[in-house]
Amino acid sequence: MNDIDVLLQEHRRFEPDDAFRAQANISAAEYSEAMADPERFWADEAAKLEWMSTWERVLEWQPPRAKWFTGGKINVSVNCVDRHIRSARRNKAALVFEGEPGDTRTLTYWDLYVQVNKFANVLRSLGVRKGDRVAIYLPLIPEAVISMLACARIGAIHSVVFGGFSPESLSDRINDSACKVLVTADGGYRRGSVVPLKRNADKALEGTPSIEHVVVVQRRPGAPGDEAGADMRDGRDKWWHRLMRHAPQWCEPEEMDAEDPLFILYTSGTTGKPKGIVHTTAGYLVGAMTSTHIVFDLKEDDVFWCTADVGWVTGHTYLTYGPMANGATCVMYEGAPDWPEKDRFWDLCEKYGVTILYTAPTAIRAFMKWGDQWPAKHDLSRLRLLGSVGEPINPEAWMWYREHIGGNRCPIVDTWWQTETGSIAISPLPGITATTPGSATNPMPGFTVALLDAQGKEIEVGGGLLAIMKPWPSMLRTIWGDDQRYVDTYFSKWPNRPDVYFPGDGAKRDEDGYFWILGRVDDVLNVAGHRIGTMEVESALVEHPAVAEAAVVGRAHDLKGQALAAFVTLREGYAESPALRDELRDFVAQKIGAIARPDDVLFSADLPKTRSGKIMRRLLRDIAEGRALGDTTTLADPNVVNSLKETYEAQET
Ligand code: WTA
Repeated sequence: MNDIDVLLQEHRRFEPDDAFRAQANISAAEYSEAMADPERFWADEAAKLEWMSTWERVLEWQPPRAKWFTGGKINVSVNCVDRHIRSARRNKAALVFEGEPGDTRTLTYWDLYVQVNKFANVLRSLGVRKGDRVAIYLPLIPEAVISMLACARIGAIHSVVFGGFSPESLSDRINDSACKVLVTADGGYRRGSVVPLKRNADKALEGTPSIEHVVVVQRRPGAPGDEAGADMRDGRDKWWHRLMRHAPQWCEPEEMDAEDPLFILYTSGTTGKPKGIVHTTAGYLVGAMTSTHIVFDLKEDDVFWCTADVGWVTGHTYLTYGPMANGATCVMYEGAPDWPEKDRFWDLCEKYGVTILYTAPTAIRAFMKWGDQWPAKHDLSRLRLLGSVGEPINPEAWMWYREHIGGNRCPIVDTWWQTETGSIAISPLPGITATTPGSATNPMPGFTVALLDAQGKEIEVGGGLLAIMKPWPSMLRTIWGDDQRYVDTYFSKWPNRPDVYFPGDGAKRDEDGYFWILGRVDDVLNVAGHRIGTMEVESALVEHPAVAEAAVVGRAHDLKGQALAAFVTLREGYAESPALRDELRDFVAQKIGAIARPDDVLFSADLPKTRSGKIMRRLLRDIAEGRALGDTTTLADPNVVNSLKETYEAQET
């Protein structure tokens, strides 16, 4: 009853090709060496950074407290910017930005260096000191990265709040960590309209006594002070460009202790108030730098596009710190993938010669739904590697990604990690690992990952709970202001093993030792005593040519314990019908067994998702069980779930 049943069988395999293998940034021998002695591996990686003084001890581990590189002094912004301007990278593009309306800007490492130094001085002039918190509430524009690095330069702790969050969410986060300064903008562009960030911020600021200053980026040319823009309040609000004009170009970097906090990032759990995940300086940077280098096989000429917003951890680690620590060129795009047309991503890939693309399954499933013709219009031949993150990727979506985006040529890295892990923890390494659609494959070098049952016994093959057995440098250190919650959430799953980290995900392991993430344990289904991961049933549905996306939940059932309810969106060109409903139910039964045959299939134009694109099964459970809807504040579009509820109820009567 504790273990998770394994249903899905997937045998397609893709070996790395010889040419890729030969040039890859990590070899199988190096991987084995790292696994044999993780601490030594991490120390060797840390030695690649520029330290102000070197560490005395690699790791101090008193479960659940880890300290990495203790005694070391380092500054993150020096490693992400200053190092590169002393080399041939000085004039290399660091950020290639395109706004949704089509405006473009390129910042070289030199430009970035100047901007970071200046803004660091601005923050200091506003009274920000080491250890103070700075909230960042911006569109996805270069100033977001500049602000983060400027905070790092002076030792301020940044807390980035996604620009799509409401005033309440913003004020909650500001108050939880008592931020002193807020950096925002007069607006941002999304699907052709302006997101009134400053107006939202003003609402939030009605209840945030800790904020002393607000810095406002003018994103909307020629429109300061207008309705959707900024209503500048005397004394408190200042324009970014005015402050920057006279700021000196050099800002002495703060000497940071390896274990000083670098940032807080709030992540909403399934219940309760958001957790302020705390990451520290050196360990986080090592994790970000190393994983970017080896997972994405980053080379000097690569053009790396991680499509995540800086409001999520992916935008922290793989748009900012990881690539910048490696001196990479990053594409940054502000807007929606279907604006003005459904080929915007492919247009950008072609235009900027993107070589590495890192995006989320939710986006990939949307592209599938829109149809093959959109990527087909563009030359995507520069792409050489594809990545996926954020949710389990269904095998069919993986195959589509491989064929239609990767031209059957690019390796795919399905990277499993979390806000809490700070960097990728399980992933194929493109020059070493034979990939298989739907599996995140092996632990990263330096990570000790296992599958345990509820008693903490290791499962070699089969389904169970994911666990990280040893500390790693980029792990969270605590939850801001609630250390007990840190212990309870992450280190209390197995009372006999208080040194083991529980990520909250279910997974299975196959005969080759590969990991397959099955989804959040809270979402696991229990049908007639069988515990089934949502991912497998959803993947079976997505294999049907009519289905674009599926979410499966359990609803209470007298006999079986739970019955399965499937919410399905169709690909363009398919229409819903009772016949299709029956066909889908049979299809799943045939693919993975009668036990997983959905009792209900509900067609829907859309599925409820968080703002980072994860399906919110909790709300679908509320619908399927006819309950009032739970908290919907983290939804990207609350209307979706209301109309679903109506349809579901209408169907039942
Ligand atoms: C899920 C995002 C399957 C997982 C970096 C995890 C994944 C949660 C994958 C963390 C993947 C992330 N395969 N599931 N490749 N990547 N997840 O904090 O449930 O936004 O616990 O971090 O997303 O989400 P978070």
